Amino acid sequence: MAVKQLVTKVWIAPGCIVCDACETTCPDVFDVRHDDGTCLIRPDAMDAEFTKPRSQLIKDAAAECPVDVIKFETIEVEVSDAEAAAAPAPAAPAAAKAPAAGEPKAPAPTKAHPEKPARTHEVAGPKIVDPAIQALLEAATTRGGKAMIDKPAFNAAAVLKRIQQLPPDRLPPDARQQLTLEKTRPAKPEEVTRRNMVLAAAWGAMAAVGGISGVAFGRFMMPNALEEPDPRVRIGGLDKYREMNPGDVNEDYKNSGKFWIIREEKENRIAALSIICTHLGCVPSWLPNDRKFKCPCHGSGFKPNGVNFEGPAPRPLERFKIFMDGDNVIVDRSKKFLAMGPNDTGVWNDPESYIEV
Ligand code: FES
Repeated sequence: MAVKQLVTKVWIAPGCIVCDACETTCPDVFDVRHDDGTCLIRPDAMDAEFTKPRSQLIKDAAAECPVDVIKFETIEVEVSDAEAAAAPAPAAPAAAKAPAAGEPKAPAPTKAHPEKPARTHEVAGPKIVDPAIQALLEAATTRGGKAMIDKPAFNAAAVLKRIQQLPPDRLPPDARQQLTLEKTRPAKPEEVTRRNMVLAAAWGAMAAVGGISGVAFGRFMMPNALEEPDPRVRIGGLDKYREMNPGDVNEDYKNSGKFWIIREEKENRIAALSIICTHLGCVPSWLPNDRKFKCPCHGSGFKPNGVNFEGPAPRPLERFKIFMDGDNVIVDRSKKFLAMGPNDTGVWNDPESYIEV
């Protein structure tokens, strides 16, 4: 008997560059969304019975990910030596096509074999390509489709310079760079996303190897990556929001502004709720029938007012400053109101965190 590892849980860590590679490899599991600038785990794939038959594809996607943000847990199951040596089945048994006459039958699903009760809780995937690139990604956040450095002390210029000077053995493998370049769709020149930042890092690294002028790299990268977009978003007059019922969620600015406007259930107030899950930064979906926000990555649930009540998220969704400017409602994303737990919502009584309607 041999041991085989099956994927029981998969998620995306922060730092996705929206390059399409994972969805190309395993479209049943990964949903790359260019409009949101993120990658989600499809709802079906939050079930271990769905991921197990796709274990090899998920592992392949993790290995191909240029920034190594695909993480997964596995369990070990015992299989026969012949089965262990066989090629992995590419699709779930339920979705698999019946083999045509004469075609070899796909290996039997491993469900037939006993699973070891102890879970390994292994987090797999290769290490990040380089600490400098990782540091750059961690310091950067995206708002309104643009990347920026939120950490004041972070010296992006120094890190970029360092990436340019990396010795060849510290560079991302050529195949990964190539994959990133091929899979990445061209962006508008003024629109620098995380994807561009990694691309720039890859180009800078290649420049260091190939002798391409660092000036070109600098021009490509530096001015736009550090540009701070206007954090204020004008969202129209108050009348539209007065019509919302208590507990309603307005999704008009989910994509462009990265926030929802909510109408409080108990107070005659509206507030602007960040769309970023407080667990690991995925984007939850508003489920009107269930009256909750649900995060597809690890299952966190938030009430209509943003309070976390299920899953691993440690605190409620953040709120942004909201105020009137003449007849217009303005959301100012440069100021946040953070509740540190589901019972720590006193900060939402700050008059800058809501508007009476
Ligand atoms: Fe983990 Fe949302 S990112 S539950």
